[in-house]
Amino acid sequence: MKKISFIFGTRPEAVKLAPIILALREEGTLQAHVCVTAQHRQMLDQVLRVFGIVPDVDLDLMRPNQTLGELTSRAIAAVDGYLADYQPDMILVQGDTTTVFCASLCGFYRRVPVGHVEAGLRTWNKWAPFPEEINRVLTTRVADYHFAPTAWSRDNLLREQVPSDSIYVTGNTVIDALLLAVEKIRRSRPAIAGLPPELLENDTPMVLITGHRRESFGEGFESICRAIATLAQRYPAVSFVYPVHMNPNVREPVYRSLGKIANVHLIEPQEYLPFVALMERATVILTDSGGVQEEAPALGKPVLVMRQTTERPEAVESGAAKLVGTDTNRIVEAVSSLLDKPAQRRIAGGSPYGDGHAAQRIVEVCKKVLGDPR
Ligand code: UD1
Ligand code: UDP
Repeated sequence: MKKISFIFGTRPEAVKLAPIILALREEGTLQAHVCVTAQHRQMLDQVLRVFGIVPDVDLDLMRPNQTLGELTSRAIAAVDGYLADYQPDMILVQGDTTTVFCASLCGFYRRVPVGHVEAGLRTWNKWAPFPEEINRVLTTRVADYHFAPTAWSRDNLLREQVPSDSIYVTGNTVIDALLLAVEKIRRSRPAIAGLPPELLENDTPMVLITGHRRESFGEGFESICRAIATLAQRYPAVSFVYPVHMNPNVREPVYRSLGKIANVHLIEPQEYLPFVALMERATVILTDSGGVQEEAPALGKPVLVMRQTTERPEAVESGAAKLVGTDTNRIVEAVSSLLDKPAQRRIAGGSPYGDGHAAQRIVEVCKKVLGDPR
């Protein structure tokens, strides 16, 4: 049986590759081998548990407060060793992290075809998001199969002279993952550690917050925290729920600035099902996350994006998302406006990012290019 290696390392990669791994395992025509770099440790394991995925190989690379250079050098050495041992027929990577770039480069060096899931996203600004914009540009250069989530991302690849017969518009697998999660939550509501249960049961307004972008470290996060503190004071009856990313450059300013405000709930990163339950419960979502920008519109939730630019313009164009940057006043005004005017919270139905069948489309392409054994 032909072998596909899934190589990934962080929370969002795991969420978005899980539907493909599960679909391939159900099919049984190609062998899915899971190699995690564990660039993230706890936040990766949280996702693996939810989807019942046990890695075949765990490179266990995360170190506290790792630098990009240190992680890159460890990942290249470790993934190269893995490829030498396992010799897959194809590699699948997802997104734009250090793991994605390193695994793609290692695949190229070992002449193993690379499939890039979520290909073609661009801001054309090398510093935003940093370093992800360059990771995905470089991954495009070495990848052989490009799974573009939308027509817009396909067009970006075509403009870069990527051969059209190597591009497949599939939708984003995040919607597959989200629909799986929503179905599970409907059957049994997950508890959320660190939150008073009544907050989940009543329907008082709630703002859900996440943030972790490197280009916002320092002044950007100080400014974001000032905005949240101002909003919490202006709206004492509103709960601000913030599962804080484990990067120490995020935790330090967030806990220092927001740790003692009664209606700001700082909680640990949530497993995927409780997090999806929080998104469903939210009145407004304030985030700089790529994945959350895609999930919020699919749940009918307005999302304010704390970034200057986005590689996911489809939701901005549909009116479901709005760019607000990291400026304190701009965030305060945008959140206030959504809290004060319920009509502004109504967004167009449906998701511009997928229909929940992206994983199956990717599996079909893999079978075709590797030769379907049936
Ligand atoms: C990484 C990705 C980013 C992605 C984000 C998703 C890169 C360069 N960055 O950023 O593209 O959007 O993941 O969340 O690839 N940590 C833990 N436990 C964890 C995870 C992180 O303690 O489970 C801490 C560690 O101190 C670690 C630090 O966070 O060294 C940074 O992790 P890293 O993966 O390098 O960067 P992220 O900011 O998480
Ligand atoms: N997520 C989660 N728990 C949390 C916060 C986010 O499971 O506490 C999920 C979220 O639903 C999305 C993914 O993690 O699927 C996004 O990860 P992140 O924001 O870390 O990375 P990005 O998408 O920006 O690369």
